[in-house]
Amino acid sequence: MKTLIRNGSVVTAIDNFSADLLIEGSKIAALGANLPTQNMDKIIDAQGMLVIPGGIDAHTHLDMPFGGTTSADDFETGTRAAAFGGTTTIVDFAIQGRGGRIMDALETWWKKAQGRAVIDYGLHMIVTDLSEGSTDADQGLDSMNSVVREGVTSFKLFMAYPGALMVDDGTIFKALSQTAKNGALVCMHAENGSAIDVIVRRAIAEGKTAPIYHALTRPTTAEGEAVNRAIALAEIAQAPVYIVHLSSNEALEKVAEARDRGVMAYAETCPQYLLLSLEDMEKMPDFEGAKVVFTPPLREKWNQEKLWEGLRTNNLQIVSTDHCPFCFKEQKELGRGDFTKIPNGGPGIENRLQLLYEHGVNQKRISVNRWVEITSTTPAKMFGLYPRKGTLAVGSDADLVIWDPTAEHVLSAKTHHMRVDYSMFEGWKIRGNARTVLSRGEVIVDQGKFLGKPGRGEFLKRATYAGAWK
Ligand code: URP
Ligand code: ZN
Ligand code: ZN
Repeated sequence: MKTLIRNGSVVTAIDNFSADLLIEGSKIAALGANLPTQNMDKIIDAQGMLVIPGGIDAHTHLDMPFGGTTSADDFETGTRAAAFGGTTTIVDFAIQGRGGRIMDALETWWKKAQGRAVIDYGLHMIVTDLSEGSTDADQGLDSMNSVVREGVTSFKLFMAYPGALMVDDGTIFKALSQTAKNGALVCMHAENGSAIDVIVRRAIAEGKTAPIYHALTRPTTAEGEAVNRAIALAEIAQAPVYIVHLSSNEALEKVAEARDRGVMAYAETCPQYLLLSLEDMEKMPDFEGAKVVFTPPLREKWNQEKLWEGLRTNNLQIVSTDHCPFCFKEQKELGRGDFTKIPNGGPGIENRLQLLYEHGVNQKRISVNRWVEITSTTPAKMFGLYPRKGTLAVGSDADLVIWDPTAEHVLSAKTHHMRVDYSMFEGWKIRGNARTVLSRGEVIVDQGKFLGKPGRGEFLKRATYAGAWK
């Protein structure tokens, strides 16, 4: 199968140039001016369009058990929605059950994804137990090596959610020390869960049960402290560390300070922290605030420009979604009268490129190249997928998006493809959208129509973290 994309404006993390792009089978075969049009199976005219590498969302939670329920998108509905928004790869999280085997978790998540995913996917492994009493007689450390050999080359550990996912500093240090040896990358949910737990209990005892108290009981200092501790432990272990869903300036300053010292500290933020605020949440009536209950919570508005600045200066390298949707009516409802029971998470897998294009590129906060870099190229490099994914180069997978920079649309639960009954960005106007989306050379979305098939997405065996590449 030969496909020619003609007359487009190619945008990568470093270049903008006019070129045609030839796809043979699943790979990019050539880029150049006026490529021959003979013997093509398909010719796509991209006049007036940007041609960009497919988005890579390195932080999603599909079909994830959490807070007594399960995230509303599974691997079929979630990856389909991702594709509509121009994302062609995700890295989701498998979870080691407490006392359970890491390899069993991998098998479970493979089963969830196989036959459903419509785009390619990798997996991180959430480690909850490396204790001597755990099922893994080797304290889980050999199991960490086993999953790395299967291409699961990053681990998430939680410094929050005591009694559920939180691990102690010893476990974090063990995991970091192991990744220093096996080349994997530890991703850290950095909030001081123990201190937050005390503040939360006090709030509930005082009858402060509304959704807003979820945000008010998780101070930025609890995030900054945990980021600092995570980086310190990584320094002792001589391992890199990647802070997930960084939400506040206080946390960002800790990352920046470490990076200035040459420490291998990296961080991502998410559209919700760049664009929504505590002040927005305070205005939401009744129980509506449950729609934006996720951890870390929304922060005071002034933090937003600091996060944008972090993206410009590369103290933040990636924007992921932390897509973890729960329906407002049936699932968020579990926490009416007690914010601690609201399942934590929000929907976003479909809207990341659109929101960052409108509020980043159109509003001149970042360049179009930086937009590609933070949503595709750097996630590919950070998580061992580059150059197969994350760029437009000869030999790379033909995962690409024909992006219409003038398409105007309004974000809404009525029209989005995520299986959730609300949008965090309801009514927001966006200029710029994915017109045509290709995954390994196959058109899977074209002008609002889905053309892909469940199960066509492949599991990606990722390489280990490449070292201090940046
Ligand atoms: O509230 C959130 N972020 N839910 C998903 C789980 C996590 O901590 O990433
Ligand atoms: Zn987290
Ligand atoms: Zn998450």
